[in-house]
Amino acid sequence: MATVIRNPLFIPSSSHHHNFNRNNSSVLLTLRFPHTSLRHSSLHFKSRFAVSCSQSEPSSRQRPPYIPNHIPDPSYVRIFDTTLRDGEQSPGASMTSKEKLDVARQLAKLGVDIIEAGFPAASKDDFEAVKMIAQEVGNAVDDDGYVPVICGLSRCNENDIRRAWDAVKHAKRPRVHTFIATSAIHMEYKLRMSKEKVIETARSMVKFARSLGCEDVEFSPEDAGRSDREFLYEILGEVIKAGATTLNIPDTVGINLPSEFGRLIADIKANTPGIENVVISTHCQNDLGLSTANTIEGARAGARQLEVTINGIGERAGNASLEEVVMALRCGAHITGNLYTGINTKHIFLTSKMVEEYTGLQLQPHKALVGANAFAHESGIHQDGMLKHKGTYEIISPEDIGLERTNEAGIVLGKLSGRHALRKRLEELGYELNDDQVQSLFWRFKGVAEKKKRVTDADLRALVSDEVFQAEPVWKLGDIQVTCGTLGLSTSTVKLLSSDGSTHVACSVGTGPVDSAYKAIDLIVKEPVTLLEYSMNAVTEGIDAIATTRVVIRAESETSTATTTSASTGETVLRTFSGSGAGMDVVVSSVKAYIAAINKMLGFKETYPSAEKIPISSLKI
Ligand code: KIV
Repeated sequence: MATVIRNPLFIPSSSHHHNFNRNNSSVLLTLRFPHTSLRHSSLHFKSRFAVSCSQSEPSSRQRPPYIPNHIPDPSYVRIFDTTLRDGEQSPGASMTSKEKLDVARQLAKLGVDIIEAGFPAASKDDFEAVKMIAQEVGNAVDDDGYVPVICGLSRCNENDIRRAWDAVKHAKRPRVHTFIATSAIHMEYKLRMSKEKVIETARSMVKFARSLGCEDVEFSPEDAGRSDREFLYEILGEVIKAGATTLNIPDTVGINLPSEFGRLIADIKANTPGIENVVISTHCQNDLGLSTANTIEGARAGARQLEVTINGIGERAGNASLEEVVMALRCGAHITGNLYTGINTKHIFLTSKMVEEYTGLQLQPHKALVGANAFAHESGIHQDGMLKHKGTYEIISPEDIGLERTNEAGIVLGKLSGRHALRKRLEELGYELNDDQVQSLFWRFKGVAEKKKRVTDADLRALVSDEVFQAEPVWKLGDIQVTCGTLGLSTSTVKLLSSDGSTHVACSVGTGPVDSAYKAIDLIVKEPVTLLEYSMNAVTEGIDAIATTRVVIRAESETSTATTTSASTGETVLRTFSGSGAGMDVVVSSVKAYIAAINKMLGFKETYPSAEKIPISSLKI
């Protein structure tokens, strides 16, 4: 009997069929698939290379106390998450303040040491989002004394630094991160500054940040990967004297190879005066697909803060991904000299999903660790190996990153399942939902279960995304009726409900059902937008699958507050907004996605109707 092992198929955690004994190197492993039961007892692995990353988990290590410029345990590596800053710079990834707060809370659950919450000088809404995160997440101290540092980015000018400080100072552990470019190409063409001027600006701006009362100041020489070494040692030495506590070394354009980047960190460590008084950090972009490898080499060379993003999102090809770096450190402990982090990896999968939903940046199926195929075994040889011993093809247990596995024999939700079973399954999938959320999901679930024999975990995730990971609704879909086919123009009648309770109906023709429906929505909402992207996926197989649609739109109104200042170029750019929708009817799914993107865009306006913008001309770099 052929067994297809797919991800994600789940069973409740109480019925886990394998168990790694982490206290010694023996593995007791029982696999139970529908028609197979194999038991391997006490297999002893002794080797110089890692056999399974789960086994090398350093279980009893404590996060050392937080001191800005010093880590008491030399093996501890701080994780600095910049999903909300560098990650949000990805095209289409704009998040509302509420979404950013949700992500920040999730990052705290994950246990990241530092959350770079944004670039407060970019716009009023960026400022407010960072401030809100500082106030809420930055003060939620847990029983072990853990609370994340909340960091704000600033260019090297007084205005940016003051804005960053004003936003983060509400946190228990506030940090200002300031940067200026140090490569010849950036200094000549972008900054038009001499080396001396760049050093003087960096030195005086770090001093300025300290003078505001900020005791935790990070400095980055932008484009360090292409900067002259001697110049780097000099400027870094100066900012240490001026009071910087962390020195972040960015490979801004992602051009370094791993050994080269490791050498850069080692050289800085060996040659910068005063370096023993600060923490060295990495920030690796992914232009050559080397960001994770470079980050790990940086850690091996002495960096003890690693800058990463969830799912590796970020400018251009993105950043080093948190999940890859953290799991690679765990797997490579025998190579790195037992470096460890404070990350609770069980929260990785849900955090990844949340960021995927909120940013609209969909993961490729083969994305390491969190992609849909990351734990799927398709070929016969692999399946045979897996049935005999999971360690044959799986170096990490999916459960380690919060992905509960099941098989075809797992509990099946269907039309007879009640609220209790639904809530339980959602909890097992990692969703902590309130009663109202479960209630509205329950009715959606029933609707699907009426039409499908079996509601899978993938279906549930699609429903949760559609119901829970959504911007505050300004507009909600009431009803829709579509006529389409070969006999004439497609026509849609759409009824929308607005947040004030009023009902609006419009009718439009279009080139197809989705086009006519979107035009009818435009007639009601009256906000000029451009549809930039549209894509649809079936989350499960078969004709009765739930379809998820994602769209990206751009606000076209000049008066829109939906603009931001790019940290790297200083230009004002129009934000783009993503939205997703799910449904068994493809037109309904498409309409929901469009409304979700519009709600996200309007969310910016609702919160900050008269967002003050800082004129670019007043910004001195
Ligand atoms: O890529 C980069 O250089 C940055 C810095 C601001 C750290 O994002």
